[in-house]
Amino acid sequence: MLQKSDPRNDTIKIYIDGQIVPRENAKVSVFDSVVQGGDAVWEGLRVYNGRVFGLQEHLDRLFDSAHIMRFTGIPARENVRAAIRKTLETNDMHDGVHIRLTLTRGKKITSGMDPRLNQAGCCLIVLAEHKPPVYPESISLRTSSIRRNSPMSVDSKIHHNNLINNILAKIEANDAGADAGLMLDKDGFVSEANGVNVFVIRRGEVRTPYADYCLPGITRAKVLALCAEHNIPCREARISVSEFYVADEVFTTGTMGELTRVHAVDGRDIINKHEISVLDSVKTIFREATEREGVRIEDL
Ligand SMILES: Cc1ncc(COP(=O)(O)O)c(C=O)c1O
Repeated sequence: MLQKSDPRNDTIKIYIDGQIVPRENAKVSVFDSVVQGGDAVWEGLRVYNGRVFGLQEHLDRLFDSAHIMRFTGIPARENVRAAIRKTLETNDMHDGVHIRLTLTRGKKITSGMDPRLNQAGCCLIVLAEHKPPVYPESISLRTSSIRRNSPMSVDSKIHHNNLINNILAKIEANDAGADAGLMLDKDGFVSEANGVNVFVIRRGEVRTPYADYCLPGITRAKVLALCAEHNIPCREARISVSEFYVADEVFTTGTMGELTRVHAVDGRDIINKHEISVLDSVKTIFREATEREGVRIEDL
């Protein structure tokens, strides 16, 4: 699965460091920390029918990540909200939109790793694109040899731009002809796929790995909450790859692709041994949530 460019995005305008500019002029300095060390944090958000879904949760995670990274000169929350509104209004975007919100540590006075060289404050980028959910109806996964980071190295709770381990897992998946790489923790239990969280359903129960090694995804949290609300048995657990092979249903969650069915893992078809699909019910209640929830663009 390879995303295609959308001609509607050829003329979009992008918010960068306080200015709205055409995409060809949206550039960061070579002295910016994101260029020098991947030293930035980010969020992906979606706009449904004039509303930004999960705004509070995404901004909380962005500010938490920036605080953990000890950024200085972090913009106020209302300024980030205003930048998102300005970007969406400038581009006349209301629906089927994905926003990549990036906050870098900002420009350095000279190249180097030391954050004390960053004396200009953070750089905020709001990149909004016309982008309906990117995954096809179902996808395949391939277990990767690359382990997901643990709190022993870089804590997966930080949503940072240093995505190299996930990218290496994606390359392995591409080479194997799969859509995404399934990444394990240091003990061999499943953590997540390279850019999405993962769930299994077996005998009516929905399970997802603990957020020890995976990003605690906003969509993942929403699915857990919606299942609880609708009395669908659902819990976090340690889950092995074998349990993925024999699950009745497997799916991924993420802002980019929403909820996506997995039809095969490592060449094993995922076979539903029951007449009904729990995943179809979860997808329906998630879609309903996107239709009624979210912060209206004019209230940003
Ligand atoms: C590694 C990783 N896992 C999972 C997700 C899904 O998270 P969310 O549901 O918050 O989009 C993302 C999204 O950025 C991600 O980068």
